[in-house]
Amino acid sequence: MTTTIAHRRSAELEELIGQDAAVFRILTGDRPTGRLHLGHYFGTLRNRVRLADLGAEVFVLIADYQVLTDRDTAERLDEYVTGLLLDYLAIGLDPARTVIFTHSAVPALNQLLLPFLSLVSVPELNRNPTVKDEIAHSRQAAVSGLMLTYPVHQAADILFCKANLVPVGQDQLPHLELARVIARRFNERFGLPVFPVPDALLSAAPLLLGTDGTKMSKSRGNTIPLSATADETARLIRGAQTDAGRHISYDPATRPAVSSLVLLAALCLGRDPREVADQIGGRGAAGLKTVLTTAVNDLLAPIRARRAEYARDLGYVRQVLRDGNERANEIAAVTLAEVQAAMGMRY
Ligand code: TRP
Repeated sequence: MTTTIAHRRSAELEELIGQDAAVFRILTGDRPTGRLHLGHYFGTLRNRVRLADLGAEVFVLIADYQVLTDRDTAERLDEYVTGLLLDYLAIGLDPARTVIFTHSAVPALNQLLLPFLSLVSVPELNRNPTVKDEIAHSRQAAVSGLMLTYPVHQAADILFCKANLVPVGQDQLPHLELARVIARRFNERFGLPVFPVPDALLSAAPLLLGTDGTKMSKSRGNTIPLSATADETARLIRGAQTDAGRHISYDPATRPAVSSLVLLAALCLGRDPREVADQIGGRGAAGLKTVLTTAVNDLLAPIRARRAEYARDLGYVRQVLRDGNERANEIAAVTLAEVQAAMGMRY
């Protein structure tokens, strides 16, 4: 599916969500490889809260097995998983209406990988553009079997709970397309409509660059984490890349670094980036950084306060995950039983 079609479909889906969000079961996920940052917040996190508040059922997967796609061992898992839970709670995901769970705690989900692998060909796996890109940038000497097959596992993430809507960024569209193919092929091959065909919901959020003017990413260390302190945030913004232009303008094509900082300020303030740039104008890079620091810290202050509160009650935070895992296991067991029945594996 091309990006244009995906965008058009997403607009239709937004309309349906506006009419009745309760008909959607949504699944999204994060790999626990570091701290969530403002790129995540504007790209997907705040959208999850919006969808849940509108009445959609929201499942949030902490994709711990998927950490191993591009590295040999998953480092600091416990710390990162706890960090994700704190961030989810702090931004306002309500655990009473959201199922938060990890791969590793849901065996029946993982077992779906086997029948799903039988439904895809090796050339199909080799063609996945996102996987190809990740292989090209991998620091590993050899491509592991998991790197090639994790999109199939991701289909299991989506289909085990029969999610019909998956909010994603553009890089995830090939994976979502594969999940759709697997759902259709399973239903056809085994002659029962076990799986719905899930839709991608592309987020409208524009792309934010990191503080060094390149793609914002945990591994590049150029992010502003949600869990950063106000001082840390000020320091990160002070060190951000700008350019020699004296006057601040919003022109992503010719001034990517400056424009990304303007955009971030505009997103935090809920305003138009051109207006924000005009207002800063001749105050230059220093003025931009002052405005941005205040905007980010004002936005994050209540989130940080709630995060700190939850951090004082880790027993509760762990219980949220245990409850989510329990619910995910119940659902996965039902789906796996249907899958095995469809395949004639009822003995
Ligand atoms: N691959 C996603 C990412 O890197 C994380 C993920 C795992 C996911 N399973 C998923 C996203 C299922 C959507 C649906 O961000």
